[in-house]
Amino acid sequence: MHKKADSEMFKALWAYDKAAESTDHIQIKKKYELFIDGKFVKPIKGAYFDTVNPSNNEKIASVAEGSSEDVDKAVKAARKAFKGWSKLSGRERGKYIYRIARLIQERATEFAVIESLDGGKPIRESKGIDIPLAANHFFYYAGWADKLSYAFPNRTPKPIGVAGQIIPWNFPLLMAAWKIAPALATGNTVVLKPAETTPLTALKLAEIIEESGLPKGVVNIVTGAGETGAEIVNHPDIDKIAFTGSTNVGKYIQKAIAGTSKKLTLELGGKGANIIFEDAAIDQAVEGIINAIFFNQGHVCCAGSRLFVQESVADVVIQKLKSRMETLMVGSPLDKNTDIGAINSKKQLQTIEDYIKIGLNEGCEIYQPTCDLPKKGYWCPPTLFLNVSQSHRIVQEEIFGPVLAIQTFRTIDEVIEKANNTPYGLSAGVWTQTGSKLFYLTQKLNAGIVWGNTFNKFDPTSPFGGYKESGIGREGGLHGLKSYVKFD
Ligand code: NAI
Ligand code: MG
Repeated sequence: MHKKADSEMFKALWAYDKAAESTDHIQIKKKYELFIDGKFVKPIKGAYFDTVNPSNNEKIASVAEGSSEDVDKAVKAARKAFKGWSKLSGRERGKYIYRIARLIQERATEFAVIESLDGGKPIRESKGIDIPLAANHFFYYAGWADKLSYAFPNRTPKPIGVAGQIIPWNFPLLMAAWKIAPALATGNTVVLKPAETTPLTALKLAEIIEESGLPKGVVNIVTGAGETGAEIVNHPDIDKIAFTGSTNVGKYIQKAIAGTSKKLTLELGGKGANIIFEDAAIDQAVEGIINAIFFNQGHVCCAGSRLFVQESVADVVIQKLKSRMETLMVGSPLDKNTDIGAINSKKQLQTIEDYIKIGLNEGCEIYQPTCDLPKKGYWCPPTLFLNVSQSHRIVQEEIFGPVLAIQTFRTIDEVIEKANNTPYGLSAGVWTQTGSKLFYLTQKLNAGIVWGNTFNKFDPTSPFGGYKESGIGREGGLHGLKSYVKFD
């Protein structure tokens, strides 16, 4: 009864009109080539694949599929460019990187709309988070380019060489920025492969790079799927691999480069614990739970996908959480009111739906608010699982969708033990008004990032990365420079 009353009251009081972002000014080509040696070139084998809009399953553009020959061409271009780029002064390198940052800012709306069209994320997020953060990463690392001697005092950092960078589909432009900006600032050159479901903003970035006058071959963008990625990983003249994606592919890459001199950073999966203590500001914490798991449809490696609520406040937190979920707007990614957009691909929707079935078969209690999902495209309502325990697969495995597993706890020791009991170690959140408790937990939680009274906050100055099966190395901040330099 309570569920219906809440949603009816909400819809009666706050019925939104549609507020679609305009797409009139957006330039998307019908066909995209590979960006190699400073220009767009046709793939040698002539193969193309489609990228679709996951909110209606309509094709947006054809995109070139890079073969081993194309990857080889890109690596050769990057190797040739390395000679000049690595010798350029930091100040000169910085100028180009600043220029790229400013060009992203100038075209921010266009980037945001393309990001939402190609990947399904709400325009509110691509406009407010993805694109500004991507520009900020370029600004931040542009600033470091001529200050590397301060970053590494009394040492002489040298670029590694040609970096092969493989990125995922959940934050397409932002991940390109995380990878490209520190590599360029430190004097490396790049062969980057965007994910096959979301290549368009990286290709827009290629247009900007061309316009910026960056020396030819410093950044090469080769589109394609896993096979193209593997060609980059296995290319003998690549000095470093930087990968963000699934733990399975991360393990494959680690094996593939074992015994070579290639350097490696891996940003992999996670199963973040979001911990609510009884002395937390409850309303803020509920908002934090929503942000932790429903941001970007839950396609977030550091999502707070395991909720731990102290038993004494569990009833009120869960009741407030359910009420808040009734107000979430699931729908068109281009609508400015949308909170939860489309699931990125048919394959990812299948994965999420399989996990929901697993949860139900394991006897967990499900809760989903009433919402009308669009008929076309890929959609999943925000979902809670209650009555779960540590051994359930939906608690142990990354779902990468809007699905939250909720457990309760009584003591600090108990929650630390439960939070750390996973193969991952990427992120965690702690909600309490007691500073000492917060700092105690940041010491005890085995996670690369611990947020205090907030969640999913990102900043280019702050290092990001995981422990255990969440990966190796850090990106962002001063630490992010380290992954792209070597010392004699
Ligand atoms: P994935 O790991 O297959 O894709 C990530 C990138 O790796 C893409 O560019 C893909 O083309 C490339 N790739 C795939 N196979 C490769 C190979 N053998 N060698 C080199 N590159 C390769 O991720 P997928 O299949 O799209 O998603 C599956 C699961 O992975 C998700 O459900 C989620 O749990 C996790 N994931 C985690 C991400 C993160 O940010 N940590 C991002 C994307 C997925
Ligand atoms: Mg797409």
